[in-house]
Amino acid sequence: MLAEVAELLACPVCRSDLELEQSVLLCSRGHSFDVARQGYVSLVTGAATKFTGDTADMVAARAEFLDAGHFDDIARTVADIVGEPIGDRAPRIVEIGAGTGYYLARAVDRSDDALGLGIDISKAAARRAARAHPRVAAVVADAWQALPILDGAVTHALSIFSPRNPDEVSRVLCSDGLYIVATPTSRHLCELVAPIGMVRVDEEKTRRLGESMSAGFERIDRVPVEYAVELDHAAVGAVVGMGPSAHHLSPQVRAEAIAALPAVVSVTVSVVVSAYRPRLAITSA
Ligand SMILES: C[S@@+](CC[C@H](N)C(=O)[O-])C[C@H]1O[C@@H](n2cnc3c(N)ncnc32)[C@H](O)[C@@H]1O
Ligand SMILES: [Zn+2]
Repeated sequence: MLAEVAELLACPVCRSDLELEQSVLLCSRGHSFDVARQGYVSLVTGAATKFTGDTADMVAARAEFLDAGHFDDIARTVADIVGEPIGDRAPRIVEIGAGTGYYLARAVDRSDDALGLGIDISKAAARRAARAHPRVAAVVADAWQALPILDGAVTHALSIFSPRNPDEVSRVLCSDGLYIVATPTSRHLCELVAPIGMVRVDEEKTRRLGESMSAGFERIDRVPVEYAVELDHAAVGAVVGMGPSAHHLSPQVRAEAIAALPAVVSVTVSVVVSAYRPRLAITSA
């Protein structure tokens, strides 16, 4: 855990500042949270969340697939948007549902003074994200509850294939900050839907995204990213295993379906990366 990232955090019990002392996060009222040996800290408190997030197997499959570079163009698009300076402020980037921290690390790497905070409800994910980049720290927290971040503390928030909580994001984002959201289109990985029984992308998703964001945010950029990747059986196994289909298919059914595919399958990657600005910043500009 980095002391500078700890300065962005709020105590999940009383909402006051947290400070890093040795390997403990402490607030002024004496609430304390241990940094795990693997470098992340859990700020989940009170009633247990009903979300458990991705399993260790899903996170390992995600790491394998992303490290092979199949989604590099998505990461580059996100990092390009983050790379545009916001005033003279050093980027403070939170990724919500950060998974392995792949996109966050790429965004942080764009500026020498950027810091990243990966939030995920999955401990297996937080363990990976804590190692994603020397300037990234990882916190276990539930995206559907109050985020353990101080008001206006971050310049950029990312939701890449992951939960979106616009109300909380508008609280933690500085007034001229950016919320960058990547969502799959109905063409994303569509070649795998029929043969493997992968979960189909909900065509209503993009419309619903617009609706959920419109109260607090104005879209200022929309970048479609679409290309084909050639996947062998191992890569197909990884992309199926890292997503929601992992819950729906038994490993045996999955393996049989993959074995029946050609040795290399051409698969469409299709997402939209959108950048939003808080409405207040637009009206006061
Ligand atoms: C589809 S993955 C995307 C991960 C990463 N953004 C990426 O694209 O590689 C969704 C992530 O959201 C996390 N997640 C699911 N529900 C969550 C919640 N309520 N709060 C925080 N994270 C959550 C999962 O554990 C998982 O790591
Ligand atoms: Zn406290």
